[in-house]
Amino acid sequence: MPKVLVATEKPFAAKAAGLIKAELEAAKYDYEFLENYTEVSQLHAALADAEAVIIRSDIIDEAALNAAPKLKLVVRAGAGYDNVDLKAASAKGVVVMNTPGQNSNAVAELAIGMMIYMARNKFNGKSGSELAGKSLVLYGFGYVARYLAKIAKGFGMDIYAYDPYIACEIMTKDGVKPLKSVAEIFSTGDYVSLHIPATAETKGSINWSLMSLMKPGATLINTARKEVINETDLLRCFEENKKFRYVSDVEPGCSAEMMEKYGDRAYYTPKKMGAQTEEANANAGVAAAKQIIAFFEKGDKTFKVN
Ligand code: 3PG
Repeated sequence: MPKVLVATEKPFAAKAAGLIKAELEAAKYDYEFLENYTEVSQLHAALADAEAVIIRSDIIDEAALNAAPKLKLVVRAGAGYDNVDLKAASAKGVVVMNTPGQNSNAVAELAIGMMIYMARNKFNGKSGSELAGKSLVLYGFGYVARYLAKIAKGFGMDIYAYDPYIACEIMTKDGVKPLKSVAEIFSTGDYVSLHIPATAETKGSINWSLMSLMKPGATLINTARKEVINETDLLRCFEENKKFRYVSDVEPGCSAEMMEKYGDRAYYTPKKMGAQTEEANANAGVAAAKQIIAFFEKGDKTFKVN
């Protein structure tokens, strides 16, 4: 039976890990869990006899693939697969999949939580502001953005989105007003939330020409990837827009300077927290296990991304 490695430097919640094991056991698959590993060599050693691997943000690059001679399938339990070298995987005939939508509500809830945290001045006792009546602009209208729109509607926010790959009707059906350009995103929002993947095109794309359009006191929310931000320009935005705020679900490269100079207007999670709920872990992990079984039993390649 195929041997499945579950390699998570940041482990799934215990309940989710139990559900993944139950899924694999029911299919009589062998499995191994490598959690909390500290060296990439541990991941490479564990890959030696794996035919499939479930990962989160764990790096599957050419070196990892070279360490995995039996590997046929990588399933990223989550949405973003910028941590997998798709070209190298394809060259070796390894299929790569993700589990879109499975952890998205958790990320959306975190975005709202961080928005409230900043709106209320990190709960420091001073009067803050409410989300009701404020504009929220979603850059990208995938699963996370759609969940966020639904929640933000409940808060009485005015919601806009821009996504060149999604039909405007899909937005309007959800009560979201479509915008026509990237520039409009940044000039329209009291809150601007990023929901774009990290690709060659998007890396560093959130730069001064966009951030300079933000309203005084607007908040930029990044639950996407730190790489999409031009951090030199981010620091400039803090400097020039005196009430600008930034929240990020991962530590920016410029965190030391950002916190030292603008700490009251910035927040980042110590470790990527968006998908860190029992529910998201269970949804994504079990979906990954099911996709592996369907792949080996039926040749099912739904959710293949390479
Ligand atoms: C994703 O791309 O699914 C999210 O960023 C979550 O990543 P994680 O599983 O590493 O927390």
